[in-house]
Amino acid sequence: MEHDDFILMLPGPTDVPKETLEAMRRRMINHRADEFRRLHEQVLEKVRKVLGATSGDVYVLTCSSTGGIECAVSNLIDREDRVLAFVNGLFAERMTVAAEYYSDYVIRVENELGTAVTVEEFRKEVESTNGIDVALIVHNETSTGAFNPSVQEISEYCRKQGIVLIVDGVTSIGGYPLELSKWGVTAFVGGTQKCLAAPPGLAIVHVSEEAREKIRKKPKRPHYFDLVSHEEFMKRLETPFTPAITLFYGLDASLDYILERGLERWYAAHRQGSTAFYEALEEMNLRVFPRQQFRSRTLIAARLPDGVQDVQLTKLMKEKYGVLISGGMGKTKGLIIRIGNMGLVTPDRVARTIRALSKSLAELGVEFGEVDVDQIVRRAFSG
Ligand SMILES: Cc1ncc(COP(=O)(O)O)c(C=O)c1O
Repeated sequence: MEHDDFILMLPGPTDVPKETLEAMRRRMINHRADEFRRLHEQVLEKVRKVLGATSGDVYVLTCSSTGGIECAVSNLIDREDRVLAFVNGLFAERMTVAAEYYSDYVIRVENELGTAVTVEEFRKEVESTNGIDVALIVHNETSTGAFNPSVQEISEYCRKQGIVLIVDGVTSIGGYPLELSKWGVTAFVGGTQKCLAAPPGLAIVHVSEEAREKIRKKPKRPHYFDLVSHEEFMKRLETPFTPAITLFYGLDASLDYILERGLERWYAAHRQGSTAFYEALEEMNLRVFPRQQFRSRTLIAARLPDGVQDVQLTKLMKEKYGVLISGGMGKTKGLIIRIGNMGLVTPDRVARTIRALSKSLAELGVEFGEVDVDQIVRRAFSG
């Protein structure tokens, strides 16, 4: 890590390796020449590894992750399509709103906050309609810390039923192993500034071969995000419009950093970090927000103790201990704290965050026994 005066333990952006910062100091290159084509090709190859994408198309778009969602939704939803949207938090809500721009038949299914739709519930909802064309789910709902462990089963079900499944995987990519081609996910959107420890400003979009067909037949497609046009340009490893070259350098360096150390190790660190956090929360008598079976390893959410306000706590942690975490958002605002266990997840960073949290809570008058941070972290990272 480059800086240690403060650490970003936010749900994005996260700290990036110093190699990434270095890479982003390079001079500009012509995006219609071989220099960019080579960079683009190697980024795509590395992104495919992280996605487990052995088929279909992968795009790295110059826009934030929300642009990636807009791209998937606008290329895959027609006005008459019946869309089933599972809403379990703010990001699911946002994807639903995006879908409502393109379809007149969006059916919302509200899931309790801190949960995610199971395959049984999904199937039941589909069967209760007269048939649907598209379904929307969030893999890791960052506003509540609920991870959906059923994406593979849901995807396999959708494939059999001929349902287009669009998955917001913005905060699962890099934190959880993905095998998108095997699972048969129609479209998946990943973020760069989260578990990939890369800068913000790019979105990763994967579409399956079936999706490609549907997109080609679509009567009306968007302009900036037209995936047929992106596909055409991709034949010569270019993008239709000027790409954010600096961010491509950054993403490439972060992917190298991850892949050189090994994806399995990277995922293990996310798992181990979350084990330490959940254990520490228990020691501090903080209630984990999502239900047990949906606890995310990349976003740790806990209810605020009585009498403590999120702003007080996050300010103290930042100013006194140099650790940046977040409060809730949307319906969880004022209710929870959110810690990003994303990207550079190391024993030191996790320990520093737990220490800052416990000391800050104690200073704010919350009572709990001694928290043996070193032991919690050592145990978690040896498991
Ligand atoms: C699950 C999820 N989806 C979408 C987004 C939107 O990302 P961006 O702010 O990069 O557009 C976020 C950002 O936190 C997210 O966590």
